[in-house]
Amino acid sequence: MHAVSVTDSIWWVGAIDWNLRDFHGFDTPLGSTYNAYLVIGEREIALVDTVKTPFVPEMLARVESVVPLDRVTLIVVNHVEPDHCSGLRAVSEACPNARIVASPGGVRGIAEFHGPDLEAAAVSPAEPADLGGLTLEFLPMPMVHWPDSMFTYCPERACLMCNDAFGQHLASSERFADEVGLDLAIEQTVVYFANILMPLRSQVAKAVAKVVEKGWALSFIAPSHGVIWRERDIPTVIDTYDRCCAVEPTAKVVVVYTTMWGSTDMLAREIADGAREAGADVHLFDLAATGYASPTRELLDAGAVLVGSSALHHGMHPRVAGYLQFLVGLRPTGMIAGAFGSFGWSSGATSQIEGRFSELGLATPFGDFTVKYRPAPGDLERARAWGASFGEAVVAGVESGALPVAE
Ligand code: FEO
Repeated sequence: MHAVSVTDSIWWVGAIDWNLRDFHGFDTPLGSTYNAYLVIGEREIALVDTVKTPFVPEMLARVESVVPLDRVTLIVVNHVEPDHCSGLRAVSEACPNARIVASPGGVRGIAEFHGPDLEAAAVSPAEPADLGGLTLEFLPMPMVHWPDSMFTYCPERACLMCNDAFGQHLASSERFADEVGLDLAIEQTVVYFANILMPLRSQVAKAVAKVVEKGWALSFIAPSHGVIWRERDIPTVIDTYDRCCAVEPTAKVVVVYTTMWGSTDMLAREIADGAREAGADVHLFDLAATGYASPTRELLDAGAVLVGSSALHHGMHPRVAGYLQFLVGLRPTGMIAGAFGSFGWSSGATSQIEGRFSELGLATPFGDFTVKYRPAPGDLERARAWGASFGEAVVAGVESGALPVAE
């Protein structure tokens, strides 16, 4: 396992998780990486971030391909979530001359996760680390992604090591966005944002503004997941983040559902067709065939979300219940909503779905659409019209500049 040079004196020494398929509910068909960076000064050598426990040997081997482990004198913990920090104790033991630093919240998190004997010192923006010829500046970034999160910046190399921000769940042999292709890197950045950072839009927007205010030169944005952004692509990824942070619904209708015996599937397709005929951009997902990440990515700029379920034991199908629980955490906003579905002998699914919409503060201007047993031709016509109502609403909203918003 070898390190990869990012720039003079900065090396990528992370690990590639080719087989990751689930990241706390976020399906990750392309795997991920846990990025760590070795910054080599004249007097000190810093390791910025570590990796998930099973990947510690891979990371240490990459470090050792550049310097012996006992020459590492500083370990910077930008974020204590276990994908970056669960391996910290093992890394610390392997690098006996390294002290650990983190934000004040990070210091508390390290003690809580690893035990108080794993000592860490708090850093602040006022106390950069002088490595000899290279400096590390620390900028607190609360809630990008956890309260402890911070960014580390090396001004001499214009390299921002920003942990979860600007990352993607994307495993690849290549280390740079321009190597995997900008379109793929940007799309996976959007998917990551939607499924991890959507509820933190305002904090992320402040973080981006803080970086811009700092006036830091940026030759590299080096996140903790996925590929690294080189200078040419940095304006594109910052613009992508600006758009992800803004709540700007489009004429998009997202239909998410699951079905037991096909009736709710029949309704979903008619509803989708009705919305499309009204001019909406329609995306349809059966939760039996897709994970959560794809529909959630589409919700980032949707004008309407329609959720359908067959009734099972007086309530919604567990697949739909699971998805709505995922969504409640991500707090999509700026859209209207509708519940639909069929039932055989017990209703109750749509009222439960509407309950979750209510928790999310999403308005349901056209009520629900429920059919008993198998939809008759007239039911399908009505489903089409119900879908068209949403399509017309989002198209009118875009045209008037006043899309329906949350209650
Ligand atoms: Fe990649 Fe919030 O951890």
